Amino acid sequence: MSALRTQVGIVGAGPAGLILSHLLHLEGIDSIVIESQTRKHVEERIRAGVLEQGTVDLLNQAGVGERMRREGLVHRGIELRFNRRGHRIDMHELTGGRAITVYAQHEVVKDLIGARLQAGGQIFFEAAQVEIHDFESERPRIAFQQAGAAYQIACDFIGGCDGFHGICRPAIPAGVLRSYEKVYPFGWLGILAEAAPASRELIYSCHERGFALLSMRTPQISRVYLQCRPDEDLASWPDDRIWEELQRRFETAGGFRLNQGPIIQKGVTAMRSFVAEPMQFGRLFLAGDAAHIVPPTGAKGLNLAAADVRILARAIAVWYRSGAVDLLQRYSEICLRRVWRAQHFSWWMTSMLHRFEGGDGFDYRRQLAELEHVTASRAAATSLAENYTGLPFDLPGECV
Ligand code: FAD
Ligand code: DHB
Repeated sequence: MSALRTQVGIVGAGPAGLILSHLLHLEGIDSIVIESQTRKHVEERIRAGVLEQGTVDLLNQAGVGERMRREGLVHRGIELRFNRRGHRIDMHELTGGRAITVYAQHEVVKDLIGARLQAGGQIFFEAAQVEIHDFESERPRIAFQQAGAAYQIACDFIGGCDGFHGICRPAIPAGVLRSYEKVYPFGWLGILAEAAPASRELIYSCHERGFALLSMRTPQISRVYLQCRPDEDLASWPDDRIWEELQRRFETAGGFRLNQGPIIQKGVTAMRSFVAEPMQFGRLFLAGDAAHIVPPTGAKGLNLAAADVRILARAIAVWYRSGAVDLLQRYSEICLRRVWRAQHFSWWMTSMLHRFEGGDGFDYRRQLAELEHVTASRAAATSLAENYTGLPFDLPGECV
């Protein structure tokens, strides 16, 4: 068995684990990242695409924003579409200058892995049988296998950044965590297509056949989602059927058409809201999807992961510099304020825009009334714009 030592052992090379490792490195703190998948897998995994200004600023300040600045698409507004008409929410004007950047999550991951490896950082890909131990003590350990060899890492802290299905959260003894969960009766079927997006900005469409979202990755690649059953079988969605359904859900009185092209990736994502509290136990700190999940309608998952680890990296750095534990102890409390704000917003966007099956149509008429209000009232539109572009990264109490 190989025995290794680091200051912070990090489980998971998603955005949370990689940003944490990079921020710690900038503070002069050593970490090792353990990831169960291959490097290729995590660098190609298609997921989120919308970065809040706070996330963009964090990546830029951390010196990993060069390609994002070049290739990211800055959007100052979004469109809400219902009753076959589009309504632009001018987020930039409503929020006094805030915007979002469309830049794929896997590109962020690629940039971070490149930066970590270039700086001599250690990432173990394809790790198997990952276990965490003794995190109630001052000497936590991470054990795993790689290519048939056994490893043991002794560390001061563990970053549990291994996503919703990881091993860190379940390793916390029963009775410590309280979980809150809401599972939605639908999912999203997402495609990537070699077709120029038919709109410069994202379109969130509420239609009687179900929700649809037009997003993009580049000026040549569209990323499009449609509401489906949570267990939808992709085999029953040949490309022609997907395009036909999408065209109907985006239709306008003015004859709007999506540009169609070869579909290069397809997947179904189920939707849930989930929070585990507190996000820490002993020397184990959960961050990102390991601690909370939001439905994707508010585009908040990746941004919350970045916000968590920004706080965690600061708290750990303060501890190494001064031995002060105050910030570490308040980690969960600080993060959860933003998490619950994002939970509410993501639930609200989801409830306003998706079609709920059954009922007598009351819900749908109520949703349309809400959409009318959000697009007609400056106060309501401002609230949406503030939440969508993201709360400032330094909320009162977060200035650490
Ligand atoms: P993850 O990205 O899940 O990273 C966790 C990492 O841990 C993974 O690399 C995983 O392989 C690794 N891991 C798991 N178990 C172990 C183990 N036992 N040992 C070692 N490593 C392990 N958000 C949006 O805002 N918009 C979207 O459109 C959107 N689409 C999504 C689509 C899908 C299919 C999914 C799953 C999520 C989507 N999200 C979206 C959410 C967003 O992608 C996540 O919030 C974000 O990935 C969170 O980052 P993370 O680092 O916390 O977790
Ligand atoms: C994308 C995903 C989202 O969940 C969202 O709300 C907006 C855009 C995307 O993948 O581009």
